[in-house]
Amino acid sequence: MSNIKRIAVFTSGGDAPGMNAAVRAVVRTAEYHDLHIYGIERGYDGMIKGNIKRLSKSDVANILQKGGTVLRTARSEEFRTKEGRKIAYENLQAFDIDALVAIGGNGTYTGAKIFNEEFGIPIIGIPGTIDNDIYGTDYTIGFDTAINTAVEAVDRIRDTADSHNRLFFIEVMGRHSGYIALYTGIGSGATTIFLPEEDNSVSDLVSMLKQSKRRKKLFNLVIVAEGNQNGNAMEIAERVKKELPDFDTKVTIIGHLQRGGSPSCQDRVRASRLGHSSVEALLAGKSNVALGLHNGEINFTSFEDAINKVSKLKKELINMAEMLAQ
Ligand code: F6P
Repeated sequence: MSNIKRIAVFTSGGDAPGMNAAVRAVVRTAEYHDLHIYGIERGYDGMIKGNIKRLSKSDVANILQKGGTVLRTARSEEFRTKEGRKIAYENLQAFDIDALVAIGGNGTYTGAKIFNEEFGIPIIGIPGTIDNDIYGTDYTIGFDTAINTAVEAVDRIRDTADSHNRLFFIEVMGRHSGYIALYTGIGSGATTIFLPEEDNSVSDLVSMLKQSKRRKKLFNLVIVAEGNQNGNAMEIAERVKKELPDFDTKVTIIGHLQRGGSPSCQDRVRASRLGHSSVEALLAGKSNVALGLHNGEINFTSFEDAINKVSKLKKELINMAEMLAQ
């Protein structure tokens, strides 16, 4: 028998499609086990401000298909301070909350780990970020929708690139990680993908484009992760234009378009599994761990590892993308 009777759930950091499916699963699983479930609005900021409300099954009806997060989200500077965290803990105590489910990325886990160490409250993390950059899980909530949105956008750009014989630089999100860029690039047949993890060279791209011209390739799509080492898409495009002034070059930044929107079925199903498992895990006595999906199965990673270890892109995929682009 678990001592846990009251759980609070919150979303933090960047919103991601599927977060609502996870919240719904947390609430419904908790109710199934006759637990009291609370929602904290705007993540750690709401915890400090006491924006905590009781949730019931019906409060999470009709949210499964919605993008963003109905609990809203924020990045809290105050929670980085000991005083801020103390206020947050006192607010949880006022509601007798004895466990937390934290949905977010690396920053969310870092806050959760410190909070658990200071106050001992059990916390389970759920990976929610479109970046897919969390160690210990093959998948983070929102990634599947984001890459599908990005590929759809690139397909549309391809029509214009093809019709006008243009060279397009398309920037996708990923400040520290190239997952979105790599999958978008492979999925849309890009000529080159600029990744934060790789030391791509602009001069290699220029040679490749010269070659493609000789081969009479009529258009090229270059995918640029926002956090790559050569600058943003506009800067890379300017450098290429100097070398290849006769190329008709355009730049598109997909930006936050790829973060919103209705979650894909994969995101809904995986988020539901993670949300459901978080409550089951708390009841089974787990704490201070991040949930994940590895080879299709639920797994657990300590916050320590999830925060400090790096989720690496498969070199095999990078090599394959290069080979298929030739
Ligand atoms: O959600 C992850 C992410 O999209 C990153 O790829 C990006 O750099 C960052 O969030 C931007 O977030 P915001 O616009 O909220 O600062």
